[in-house]
Amino acid sequence: MELNKIKHIGVLGAGLMGHGIAQIFASAGYDVNLYDADPAALQAAKGRIADNFKIFIELKLARPEHRDCCLDRISLCPSLEAFVRGPQLIIEAVLEDLKIKRNLYSELEPLTPSDTIFSSNTSAISITELGAAFKVKGRFLGTHFWNPPHVLPCVEVIKGAATADEAFETVYALMEKVGKVPVRVLKDVPGFLGNRLQHAMWREAISLRENNIASAEDIDKVVKYGFGARMPFIGPLETADLAGLGLTRDIHRYLFPYLESSREPSPVLEDLVSAGATGVRGGRGFYEWPPEKVQRIIRQRDGILLRIIHEIVSLTGQRGRKDASEEG
Ligand SMILES: NC(=O)c1ccc[n+]([C@@H]2O[C@H](COP(=O)([O-])OP(=O)(O)OC[C@H]3O[C@@H](n4cnc5c(N)ncnc54)[C@H](O)[C@@H]3O)[C@@H](O)[C@H]2O)c1
Repeated sequence: MELNKIKHIGVLGAGLMGHGIAQIFASAGYDVNLYDADPAALQAAKGRIADNFKIFIELKLARPEHRDCCLDRISLCPSLEAFVRGPQLIIEAVLEDLKIKRNLYSELEPLTPSDTIFSSNTSAISITELGAAFKVKGRFLGTHFWNPPHVLPCVEVIKGAATADEAFETVYALMEKVGKVPVRVLKDVPGFLGNRLQHAMWREAISLRENNIASAEDIDKVVKYGFGARMPFIGPLETADLAGLGLTRDIHRYLFPYLESSREPSPVLEDLVSAGATGVRGGRGFYEWPPEKVQRIIRQRDGILLRIIHEIVSLTGQRGRKDASEEG
């Protein structure tokens, strides 16, 4: 399917990610069908999107009429039969469960034309394994958005072993068209790019806490006010080049034997989860999370992220900065 044939998007799952993904496409002028197995989650979606717009309007990145047009373009579908009427691309954002996702694909595929493209927002499940549910396997790929999807620009577009080149390139081009910064993940590896990088760091952060090397606050501060502060503009491989690869090699020779390399989740993490301290959802994790703090942090996070992203876009004149290789 060519890019210009895509006029209508379907989003499966109206939860944390799904409602924000629907917002992206409706804001870019696409009609969007939204479906959720839980009617309450479906009904809540438009209210959540209206809430998401508040900070955009406050920062003058959107006007109230943008919000209203966006909401008008979204149809809440009461059934899968109603949902499949229209979309040329269906993005799935239901629970992170291989069986649930595959059952849903098997139910939907016979209801759609053979050129409808399907993608999954899975955080880590193999695209090739998920795609085995399809009869026409080339139509399936991964589109991994980052939370909050309507704020963070990057989308990992993931090629499964059977994904057709045309579907892959069309979805990549679509992400650019709606103002996202897509990256091509050419081989389907668990965790793709971002979650491999992110969880390598979380494993080390949790290990540092477990061994009482520092408080949770100080571990987070070293990222927020140290090396993490340059990350909106400079990636790890650019930083390695800037620091010098000889130095990088010497540090790795010395340091690697001391880094956390466990192949299991940390015992501290297991204990917290068993005790119901699951983080924000449980009210407590590495930190205490009373509801008013959660609301405040999320509002501040979105405002700060939007300001940083807006600043980068105005400095570089484009959504995604040119690669170093393109700068010559
Ligand atoms: N939360 C994140 O930070 C994040 C980031 C990137 C990717 N993801 C991935 O996105 C997907 C969705 O995650 P989320 O955080 O939005 O979850 P969520 O629990 O907030 O929402 C999932 C929604 O799917 C619905 N659902 C469950 N089974 C369904 C079915 N058979 N048909 C239709 N709807 C169904 C649920 O009712 C729920 O509303 C997962 O694969 C997750 O791994 C999550």
